[in-house]
Amino acid sequence: MTRFAGKVALVTGAASGIGRAAAIRFAEDGARVFCADLNLAGAEAVAGEIGGAASAIHVDVADAASNRMMVQSVIDGAGQLDVAFLNAGYYGAAQGLDTVDEALFDRLVAINLKGVFNGIKAVVPVIASGGAVVVTVSAAGVIGHVGNPAYSAAKHGAVGLVKSCVDAFAARGARINAICPGGVETPLVGAPDVAMVPEGALPQVPLRGFGQAQHIAEVALWLASPAAGFVNGQAQLVDGGLLSTFAPVQLPVGP
Ligand SMILES: NC(=O)c1ccc[n+]([C@@H]2O[C@H](COP(=O)([O-])OP(=O)(O)OC[C@H]3O[C@@H](n4cnc5c(N)ncnc54)[C@H](O)[C@@H]3O)[C@@H](O)[C@H]2O)c1
Repeated sequence: MTRFAGKVALVTGAASGIGRAAAIRFAEDGARVFCADLNLAGAEAVAGEIGGAASAIHVDVADAASNRMMVQSVIDGAGQLDVAFLNAGYYGAAQGLDTVDEALFDRLVAINLKGVFNGIKAVVPVIASGGAVVVTVSAAGVIGHVGNPAYSAAKHGAVGLVKSCVDAFAARGARINAICPGGVETPLVGAPDVAMVPEGALPQVPLRGFGQAQHIAEVALWLASPAAGFVNGQAQLVDGGLLSTFAPVQLPVGP
């Protein structure tokens, strides 16, 4: 398929996991891809894996000027920006409220919330008419997360940003949506990056199980495509049914 032929796609957090999978899939689907990451060597490796016109850019999404330079590099290199997948994120080693100190709180918010704000601000002046922004949030952006309250708070904030920016993007003829993964096997959760497979060959994930980066990438591509032209301002869960029901409970057995 070439849903993105002639289009230019920017992917942040492209060195690893969901961003890497999305960068590869956008390129397979015809886009010229810019792989942006704090880890420039990793972004260069993914751009090399893609080949062709793909290129790598260093960015620290927590820094506003760095985001502006990233977007300027895309415009300088390709003359247009059709799709921005603002996906970079950070989890840290939190294991409950007691383990989150002020420094970790600030870092989680700087990357996962301010980073999205910075990306949106840098993209909105140049996004092409008919273009789309997809922001990777989390299931922890629509429900609390006991293990990492600051991550969850930052991701909730990112959902609010996405919803609040539909008018700014609509004024340019573009859309913005959030994607909210459940558990995904990526380096963020200590899993290795896995090989890409044809779309129809993705494994079926058991209810509430861990998906693969490519499961999220496929939905990000769809959200960015014209087929999703009436989907705007949404926080799309992609979680294998994780949040569909109350957590399974052990019902008390009778007398
Ligand atoms: N893996 C999961 O279970 C899961 C679940 C829900 C949401 N998410 C979200 O998905 C997104 C992608 O995560 P992943 O699982 O692919 O993780 P990952 O660790 O494999 O990839 C994250 C990428 O973001 C980059 N990054 C981190 N800080 C950055 C910064 N300041 N500037 C630029 N790049 C930066 C990292 O270098 C890395 O390449 C994140 O926003 C994450 O919060 C992941």
